[in-house]
Amino acid sequence: MLYAGVPVALLLQLTNPAHVKPQVVPGHDVFAASAAPPEVVTLFHNACYDCHSSETEWPWYSYVAPVSWFVVGHINDARRALNFSEWPHDDPQRARKKWSHVSDELESGGMPLTSYTLMHAKARLDGPQRQQLIKWAKDEAQRLAAGK
Ligand code: HEC
Repeated sequence: MLYAGVPVALLLQLTNPAHVKPQVVPGHDVFAASAAPPEVVTLFHNACYDCHSSETEWPWYSYVAPVSWFVVGHINDARRALNFSEWPHDDPQRARKKWSHVSDELESGGMPLTSYTLMHAKARLDGPQRQQLIKWAKDEAQRLAAGK
């Protein structure tokens, strides 16, 4: 009885979902050929790219069921909503909408997710950093709306 959990835990590992690792195409990234200051690029990378890009750094626990089901599902959802590695450079109106969603999420404090920043200190944004990203996102949305 005491050891019954061990084989079950091992069998559970056969249920690990696939970790999708899409190829990163440099020109498709949101900041390819962008005038964004390096601090802005770094902050977005640190705070968002593990979930909203094809450059996810999968932590070890993301390979261990049942946590893996949660983490993999979460990242698939996050990428579907917003993938900075697959930016619609050819569709300025879609890009504009994405930037306004980004500024909304940053303003409401919904993103980055607290469940993530608790464990990933480098993803935490202090007040001025958050303001800097909001300003960048809003300015980009305006620039795209103006067709520049
Ligand atoms: C730990 C993973 C994680 C991190 C880190 C993260 N997000 Fe998200 N994000 C998600 C998930 C999951 C969703 C929800 C997808 C869905 O709606 O199914 C989401 C949704 C969004 C959406 C879409 C909301 C909408 O209206 O559709 C935006 C915009 C967004 N995130 C922006 C950001 C920004 C900007 C950052 C960095 C500052 C960030 N996220 C960091 C996981 C994350």
